[in-house]
Amino acid sequence: MSLSASDFAFVAGLVRRESAIVLAPGKEYLVEARLLPVARQAGAGSVADYLGTLQRRPDPAAHRSVVDALTTNETSWFRDREPFSALTDVVVPHLVGTRAAARSVRVWSAACSSGQEPYSLAITLQQALPAGWRYQIHATDISTEMIKRASAGEFSQVEVNRGLPVQLLVNHFTRSGTGWKVAPALRENVTFQQLNLTAPLPALASFDVIFLRNVLIYFDVETKRSVLRNICKLLRPDGWLFLGAAETTIGVDEGFERVAVGRTSAYRPRATVPAGTLGKG
Ligand SMILES: C[S@@+](CC[C@H](N)C(=O)[O-])C[C@H]1O[C@@H](n2cnc3c(N)ncnc32)[C@H](O)[C@@H]1O
Repeated sequence: MSLSASDFAFVAGLVRRESAIVLAPGKEYLVEARLLPVARQAGAGSVADYLGTLQRRPDPAAHRSVVDALTTNETSWFRDREPFSALTDVVVPHLVGTRAAARSVRVWSAACSSGQEPYSLAITLQQALPAGWRYQIHATDISTEMIKRASAGEFSQVEVNRGLPVQLLVNHFTRSGTGWKVAPALRENVTFQQLNLTAPLPALASFDVIFLRNVLIYFDVETKRSVLRNICKLLRPDGWLFLGAAETTIGVDEGFERVAVGRTSAYRPRATVPAGTLGKG
């Protein structure tokens, strides 16, 4: 059974309005499969019944559940590896030079999904920063369900098997039933907040590094541009932006310059980074 064209148009419109995620025609089966548990949870006999009720009687909480269900939360530990190596080899040594007075580093994981990215960042900084330095990872996502899970810091064996080296598992996690829980020493440096990147952003202190990875791909070009512009305002002028492997600011927002960092690339606000000063503070 597949969704009717009008139900699909209703869901695509709702999700676009509330998250800017574009659901192109052809995704009817995906929408139906993702909404089936939501419909069942709400006591509806089918997705069509659930959507029928929602169209007759709009309900903000149900709208949020629909958007949550249609986010794609694929993630893994140290995803793509190179951005994390670049932090250790290039970015942290640079920050140790430029932030010596504050001895403190702030990083934003701006679409953190179930938490593997912010905790990978925390492990990386904990290992790379000299003794006496502090760090804070602020992790946000539009999905309240993901923020709840990430904040709990509990992962199944299957989840830790996706990219978390065993030595790091032993050092930074404790056993919790059949799974693993992030140790307090790591957890206390990570804060979580539900945040829609395509809505006006809340007031946040600026960041030295922003990970905005594998989320721009879901937006149209105008939305990507506006998200990048807003993000830039929260990045320190000499800060670093990391995008996903399939994402770029090039041709979207010329306010950033792409720079080579180790074996990968990052983006830096254009006006304040004179060519040739990379890594010299
Ligand atoms: C594919 S995951 C990427 C997770 C992680 N950054 C990584 O690279 O492994 C995309 C995440 O973006 C979030 N997302 C989608 N639209 C968003 C929006 N408008 N604002 C904030 N987060 C959003 C989803 O909920 C999802 O958890």
